[in-house]
Amino acid sequence: MLPRNIAPKAPPIKTQGIKTKVVPLIARSIEWDGSGRWIEPFIGSAVVALNIAPQRALLADTNEHMIDLYRAIQNGSINGRTIRKYLEREGTQLLEKGEAHYYYIRERFNECGDPFDFIFLSRSCFNGMMRFNKKGGFNVPFCRKPERFRPALITKIVNQVEWAAKAMEGKDWQFLVQDWRLTVGSARAGDVIYCDPPYVGRHVDYYNGFTEEEADALAQSLIASEAGFALSMWLENKYRRNDYVDRLFSDYPQRTMEHFYHVGPQEKLRNAMTEVVVLSENVAATPAEVPESPLPLFERAELMDV
Ligand SMILES: C[S@@+](CC[C@H](N)C(=O)[O-])C[C@H]1O[C@@H](n2cnc3c(N)ncnc32)[C@H](O)[C@@H]1O
Repeated sequence: MLPRNIAPKAPPIKTQGIKTKVVPLIARSIEWDGSGRWIEPFIGSAVVALNIAPQRALLADTNEHMIDLYRAIQNGSINGRTIRKYLEREGTQLLEKGEAHYYYIRERFNECGDPFDFIFLSRSCFNGMMRFNKKGGFNVPFCRKPERFRPALITKIVNQVEWAAKAMEGKDWQFLVQDWRLTVGSARAGDVIYCDPPYVGRHVDYYNGFTEEEADALAQSLIASEAGFALSMWLENKYRRNDYVDRLFSDYPQRTMEHFYHVGPQEKLRNAMTEVVVLSENVAATPAEVPESPLPLFERAELMDV
């Protein structure tokens, strides 16, 4: 039922640990008749939902900025034309005024939360990272490239906005700001819950403080749900293995893929990381449908675009 051969596209915003490269594995691992809703309690950048493009979806996150952005794309206030006009205007100001303009937009965003400004910051902050301080303010510094919004990048973002709009066009998608407990609790038989929770104890910021107890509670609610589930996370690298998966999901179907990430600036130094998708029996596609090789080789940190 899910598209088997997705060449994943990137959304208009960037997040830490964005799952773009894992989308094909997720899609091929799930067997689902599409009768219910595609449910994501931790939508983040929305890259998974946008690529899977189900007919009915409940997409939630506690980060209201993500949800506001996708609501704005859904209601058409952010579209290819409006984002181009906005980026051309603010990009010119950035070129003329330099980093002062970046910090002006950052302050404005932290006061008003405008989704246009959110895209601007996501695409011109240092390393494309997204972090919020203890008070919920976006606090990533400038990438130090006043010429950042060149025509090629603006066109790329316009295309990404238009692609996102197209993916949800004519579909029954609901975007909600809410805690995962409410989202998982609303799932019914026939639904599939795709979960990509924050790392426990890593990348902790205002929206991503996930404790071990919370991660355990999530596992229990997924297991207890009438809906099917797919949970993706890192499984191991050469130093560590994620004991959460072994402790709570050793009896569940698992599909894995390896990818490589660069260590420091030297291209030669690469470490392998195994990503896993843990599935409930009722939505696990037969392993034969999940090719074990070739292993995709990821050349660069994907956050660093154009
Ligand atoms: C790992 S990210 C999801 C990334 C997403 N799959 C992607 O590829 O962009 C985890 C998300 O969980 C959200 N989050 C953190 N705590 C949450 C909670 N208690 N309930 C719902 N969402 C939460 C964060 O705001 C963040 O967007």
